[in-house]
Amino acid sequence: MNMICNKAGDLVPGLATAATRWQSDQVATSYDDQRFTSLLGRLFNHLSCRAIRRAFRAISDERLARVLDIPCGTGRATVVAQEFGSTVLGVDISPAMMGRARHRPGLESDVPFICANISHQPFATSSIDCVMAIRLMMHLDAASRQAALREMARVSREHIIVEYGYISSWLRIRRSLKAVYYRLRWKRHTFVQAVPWPQIQADLKETGVQLVAAYHTARGLSESVVLLLRK
Ligand SMILES: C[S@@+](CC[C@H](N)C(=O)[O-])C[C@H]1O[C@@H](n2cnc3c(N)ncnc32)[C@H](O)[C@@H]1O
Repeated sequence: MNMICNKAGDLVPGLATAATRWQSDQVATSYDDQRFTSLLGRLFNHLSCRAIRRAFRAISDERLARVLDIPCGTGRATVVAQEFGSTVLGVDISPAMMGRARHRPGLESDVPFICANISHQPFATSSIDCVMAIRLMMHLDAASRQAALREMARVSREHIIVEYGYISSWLRIRRSLKAVYYRLRWKRHTFVQAVPWPQIQADLKETGVQLVAAYHTARGLSESVVLLLRK
């Protein structure tokens, strides 16, 4: 694996907290197993990758020259990006997570992995055709999301694909039911930060990017929505 490390730059507080969360080998090793191996996990992964594919297909029928997957984590979405980009780069702040990506079945061995933070990316302005961020925004507060989006927009030539955790009135009810279910089973459950649609629009306006299309992973059942944005 070609791994360059560049963690330079101060992080806004929300990003600094998220940056520490996936650093250990233990967390990296169990990441995929805990989320994507059960029947429901596999179904979610399938639907989530389908939403990402739909966003890529909307950009172009041809292969894109350079695609950046940030954060790439264990390479789950990097494999999908490979279908659409001639060169795919994986970037993450956790070497442990990228260490797992190296062994991801289906991932080409020449994918360069670069250790860097999303708010200070070591790439020139407008140098990447499509910058993609999957499963990060739902761990960040508004200031951190906007710092991340701003930097993605700087590096992207035109397109950005970003997954948000989205909450609606119905999904709030669903959360309450889920919380009751977990309490009855004496289990703890921490919900990610999902934001209402007006807050998503405020993030986009604040960072000067436009919404092209939104692809729900499983409308009404999942809070995940993949947005295709344009600079
Ligand atoms: C929930 S995982 C998502 C990984 C992958 N995109 C996926 O869909 O499975 C979140 C990832 O974000 C990375 N991360 C957190 N803060 C970051 C930052 N400031 N810059 C770059 N990566 C960051 C973590 O190391 C972790 O690998």
